[in-house]
Amino acid sequence: MEKSMKTVLIFGASGDLTARKLIPALFALFVAEKLREPLTVIGVSRTPMSDALWRRRLAESARRAMPDFDESAWRRFAPRLFYFSGDVDDFETFRRLDRFAANEEDRERKRYGIEKTDRIYYLALAPERYVSAVAGLGASGMARQNALAHRRLVIEKPFGRDLFSARKLDERIHAVFDEDQVYRIDHYLGKETVNNLFVLRFANTVFEPIWNRSYIDHIQITANESETVGRRGAFYETAGVLRDMFQNHLLQLMAIAMMEPPGRFDAKSVRDEKVKVLRAVRWEEPLDGQMSLGQYEGYRDEKNVAPDSRVPTFAALKLSVDLWRWKDVPVYLRSGKAMSCRTTQIVIQFKQPPHLIFEPLGGRFEANRLLIQIQPCEGIRLSFLVKIPGTEMQLQNDELVYAFDDKISSDGAYARLLLDALSGDPSLFARDDEIRAAWEIIDPFVRTAEEGNAPVSPYPKSGWGPQRSRKIIEPTARWFDLCPILK
Ligand code: BG6
Repeated sequence: MEKSMKTVLIFGASGDLTARKLIPALFALFVAEKLREPLTVIGVSRTPMSDALWRRRLAESARRAMPDFDESAWRRFAPRLFYFSGDVDDFETFRRLDRFAANEEDRERKRYGIEKTDRIYYLALAPERYVSAVAGLGASGMARQNALAHRRLVIEKPFGRDLFSARKLDERIHAVFDEDQVYRIDHYLGKETVNNLFVLRFANTVFEPIWNRSYIDHIQITANESETVGRRGAFYETAGVLRDMFQNHLLQLMAIAMMEPPGRFDAKSVRDEKVKVLRAVRWEEPLDGQMSLGQYEGYRDEKNVAPDSRVPTFAALKLSVDLWRWKDVPVYLRSGKAMSCRTTQIVIQFKQPPHLIFEPLGGRFEANRLLIQIQPCEGIRLSFLVKIPGTEMQLQNDELVYAFDDKISSDGAYARLLLDALSGDPSLFARDDEIRAAWEIIDPFVRTAEEGNAPVSPYPKSGWGPQRSRKIIEPTARWFDLCPILK
């Protein structure tokens, strides 16, 4: 096999994402010796800055982001980081950048006798600048690849702000890159427990036979954060929770929880099955009856937020999936900022047994429930009924708990995804048709929220959102409001 190297070019090098997530993730891979080939990182941004200053800034934020920051490993890693100042709106930037990257690659090529030089172009830019960056990469010939030089484009969310703009963005990207060169990031897909969901469902015999409408009453997926929008007011005003959390993270979780078992565990098979679920999503009209919107008290006082803003910071939706497996199984999704705790969880609520022989004993019998806790503490809990020890036939709810606790690192999503992008595995990235299918679901809700005057109920911080969110789930079910108890 030919010797190879990788160059990661990060556009948006002076931004938050680069400092807080991307560089710490690359560094973690370096420390763990997961990077099998020499790596060069070139950060591109408008602000003029020396390599030394950029490295110093990155070291500071990596130290903050990584409790076990390894100083001596950083001294070996830092010389691989280079800063390049340029504006993606200026075509000349790309010609200079290509020469700059080629020089670095040449040096490594000579030093290690390398034949293959792959590049990742990582867009960590403001979304409105994606098109210029892609056009520049195309016009300068930087997107052209061959067997000894793979070129991949990694794009951060948001991918468009509705179906129309996502299609337009795809057109511009596909004019330069083939779809198999494009890696659309949804960092939830890199989370350990999300990946474990594939294993839970498709490597075990016990769950799959009951994973359907005969046994499951409904599914609820919650992604709550205790933090407010903080310094991201300006961004949030243009996005709102439906675009920020539902179109991507929540629908991806839903697709993985509800997809058919794929024939193989490869990118195409997995993504084909996910997209089938997304395409089968339906909702009842009127939409505002299937949706509850909220805004935390104090949101309008945040920096860069309009004093009369109607932007929702909380939403709950009721959907259904028109597939044999899921007919009449409602799916409830909700997400909010400034909630009582940070918890991302999938609840699979099973039905009651068909004949309740213990009902005459009285008491409240809860049907089985499988809770898959994605974060912050990863694990699963299966609730079931048991007999209370003693002479009487008394039942109580109990739980089987499996916690991944210290077995995983909770912030490894970016490292995992970067490694996959470097090695050319797109399984955990969203394909163009998935993104479109997700916008097709979310667009009508966004339109109802923005144009239809759907009520946006204020809710107090540190709770579970507006009372109104109960309307879409009750009386047939209830929200499972529980902060993670897996520790
Ligand atoms: C991002 C959203 O995609 O996900 C943020 O833009 C949100 O608003 C974040 O806070 C949540 O990610 P995580 O990994 O902390 O759950």
